[in-house]
Amino acid sequence: MKVLVLGGGGREHALCWAIAKSPVLTKLWCAPGNAGISQVAECVSFDILDPDVVVSVCKDMEIDLLVVGPEAPLETGVSDAARTAGINVFGPSKAAAMLETSKTFTKQICDACGAPTAKYASFDDADAAKSYIRDQGAPIVVKADGLAAGKGVVVATNEDEALDAVDLIFDGPGGGSVVIEEMMEGEEASFFVVTDGETIIPLAGAQDHKRARDGDKGPNTGGMGAYSPAPAFTAALQTRATEEIAKPILAEMAKRGTPYSGVLYVGLMLTEEGPKLVEINARFGDPECQCILPRLKTDLLPLLTACAKGDISDVSLDWSDETCLTVVMAAKGYPGDYEKDTVIGFVERADDIKGVEVFHAGTRMEQTVLVSAGGRVLGITALGRDVEQARNRAYDAASQIEWPEGFYRSDIGWRAL
Ligand code: AMP
Ligand code: GLY
Repeated sequence: MKVLVLGGGGREHALCWAIAKSPVLTKLWCAPGNAGISQVAECVSFDILDPDVVVSVCKDMEIDLLVVGPEAPLETGVSDAARTAGINVFGPSKAAAMLETSKTFTKQICDACGAPTAKYASFDDADAAKSYIRDQGAPIVVKADGLAAGKGVVVATNEDEALDAVDLIFDGPGGGSVVIEEMMEGEEASFFVVTDGETIIPLAGAQDHKRARDGDKGPNTGGMGAYSPAPAFTAALQTRATEEIAKPILAEMAKRGTPYSGVLYVGLMLTEEGPKLVEINARFGDPECQCILPRLKTDLLPLLTACAKGDISDVSLDWSDETCLTVVMAAKGYPGDYEKDTVIGFVERADDIKGVEVFHAGTRMEQTVLVSAGGRVLGITALGRDVEQARNRAYDAASQIEWPEGFYRSDIGWRAL
């Protein structure tokens, strides 16, 4: 099989790494890829957001399967264009990806199907939003309604903070609409299922670390580390999240004539009353993907292919009982301003440790030297019999890498220990 993966982050490195192990693979391309991905796939460069360009590349390369990693190409209609052109695509349609691209839409779906989530109201007028905040009081959560790379959410502990957040959103580039939510309390978990629109295969749960610094301090990021499985997300909670949240949402999408196919990321708050939905993403989590795929003992490619062809009912998956943990190394300053093109040394020393995989995110080769090319740069990933062993291995590996311009959190996994 010839496969093309779109994207160039740590998630896509993990996907390419897993796909590259498949005995049915004959050729793997990735666009744009990164320095790590180039060790398992041929990296190619073209505009992955342009549906016509992607379709024409797929035809030229005679691709058997297109795997869309990030959400942006879903929003521009790449998966729809490819499907219309007869290409097998792993990735939901633009209409189904609205579960990620519009928070108001997802809330309406939850209302319609009864999936538990925070009480909310949507506004496209700043004054109305502010008066609602004054009515409700703090703590309260203010969200920009649209894609904001994890940076459009303010969990406000007082009213002024919430009111300021409204101004920021209405004055910002995204312009105009907000969702205001009740604050939910509990531990968060990321749960993933693969679905063809009808059959649902639960993958695994994971816990991410969204804040930039130790102790869950500092600004929100795309994610600074994760582990899977997450002890707090028990088998019983996974069953509830599947039955009470994933299934009804997918049934509602099908009922509306926009069935969801692909991987569904169910972001949960594990509250005292049970799991409640925080957000849906129309893709694998990053870095969650990096710590989930190494636990999958079954070949990933037949699952992706069956899903793209619309029927996963014959697929079954086998998982390792081990824990996998990923520590993200990011450029100093991330998620704010940071330097690029700084030299990273001795990654192979980390990679050579048994049970360790270093997934690359923002990296590229400058001649024969590995340099940084983004905010999140490496995902040091290790398997172990439990969180403690996986974590020790990941941190041992991280300490081998020489990158003075980088940083990482030293407490990934703290909730589970
Ligand atoms: P979102 O982009 O909706 O996933 O929100 C980003 C982060 O904000 C989440 O991972 C939570 O940590 C936090 N958050 C979002 N909504 C709520 C809520 N209703 N209650 C508490 N925390 C929230
Ligand atoms: N790690 C959070 C996300 O992928 O959105």
